[in-house]
Amino acid sequence: MSRDPRITAVLGRRVWDSRGRPTVEVEVRCGRSVGRAIAPAGASTGSGEAVELRDGGTRLGGLDVRGAVANVNGPIADALVGHDAADQRVADDRLIALDPSPSLAGLGANAIVAASMAVAHAAAEVADVPLWAWLAGTGTAAGIVTMPLPEIQIFGGGAHAGRRIDIQDLMIVAPGAASFAEALEWTAEVYLAAGGIMNDRGARSGVADEGGWWPAFATNEAAIEALVAAIERAGLVPGRDVAISLDIAASELWRDGGYRLGLEGRDLDSDAMIELVTGWCTRYPIVSVEDPVGEHDLAGFRAITAALGDGVQIVGDDVFVTDAARVDELDGVANAVLVKPNQAGTLSRAADALEASRRTGRGAILSARSGESEDVTIVHLAVGWGAGQLKVGSIARGERTAKWNEALRIEQSLGDRARFAGWSPLRRV
Ligand code: PGA
Ligand code: ZN
Repeated sequence: MSRDPRITAVLGRRVWDSRGRPTVEVEVRCGRSVGRAIAPAGASTGSGEAVELRDGGTRLGGLDVRGAVANVNGPIADALVGHDAADQRVADDRLIALDPSPSLAGLGANAIVAASMAVAHAAAEVADVPLWAWLAGTGTAAGIVTMPLPEIQIFGGGAHAGRRIDIQDLMIVAPGAASFAEALEWTAEVYLAAGGIMNDRGARSGVADEGGWWPAFATNEAAIEALVAAIERAGLVPGRDVAISLDIAASELWRDGGYRLGLEGRDLDSDAMIELVTGWCTRYPIVSVEDPVGEHDLAGFRAITAALGDGVQIVGDDVFVTDAARVDELDGVANAVLVKPNQAGTLSRAADALEASRRTGRGAILSARSGESEDVTIVHLAVGWGAGQLKVGSIARGERTAKWNEALRIEQSLGDRARFAGWSPLRRV
């Protein structure tokens, strides 16, 4: 096999994602070493995130990506061929320099992020090491490696379930488990129990976009109650073995300066929204809440972080959009950062956002999107960068299990060098 890290070819193609929508795959070749990656796609996107290029028009509802694929095979290939795949930063800088628009809408963030990830895969192939080890660097690759705490969806909602309930993700974490594998096993027990509860109520009707059960509930709080009941039915202790993590995705609820809870027909101002979420955190074993208020409600974000931040992880997704500058600037907003590479556009920018989260004393969660594929890059980033937490949806649907199963392979390959993050990322709780 060739060990020359110079990029000899870059190939783009159109493939399909978990919502049956077209997306961009990029293959980066260094001689016979090949790296490959597929762009994910969000549904509840932050206004500041990098923008994917879709063709518009009538074909495939305007969602086709022929333009983005052509950009891979044209300008992106021209910029990367001959370059050293082992130098991710320079490759990413070249990609960014190709697109004059700050949002990357010209070439398409979907084209750029798939190219950036494929470069990393190719470099790892050339070095003949797993991607996570390549990203961790030679210093850490021989020592203890932290396996992230998985945040796993049990009920889907919000934009991923036709807005059937307002809360987008009702998830669990299993920090009391001894290993990543045990955390998944406990989660599978809870998922099974939650399906049983929906069955008993005659309310089981399939799954939402990320594999969580379809949320047939009369109120948002009823969904949280059902989650607690599922943990107990699985024989686990809420708050000790397994705890609750919510993504409210509140930017999606923002209407005329307040929050619209469609399920309950209620309109809340920022203070009332904070009171609602605070009440849930008091009554239920909730250890993490993402986007409890919207991206434009910075005062609300600061207020809820001050009120709950000592005991609860407050995660910023839409408000930070994986932008290091925003993480640095937005003092007092959230105590953890959701890191989504496609919000940033390149791996180097995502790494910068992770670095900013550490610099500002915040935690971090590496996250997939609601539109996914068999691509497992996100798992390697979470392990290789030592992020401590990983969010990829539920424990059902192949695009989700592809990621969890890859993490299981990594944990097994590490043997006693693996250390499960457990409670450590939730140290405030
Ligand atoms: P998205 O949802 O991928 O649809 O944006 C995920 C999230 O909000 O965390
Ligand atoms: Zn989110």
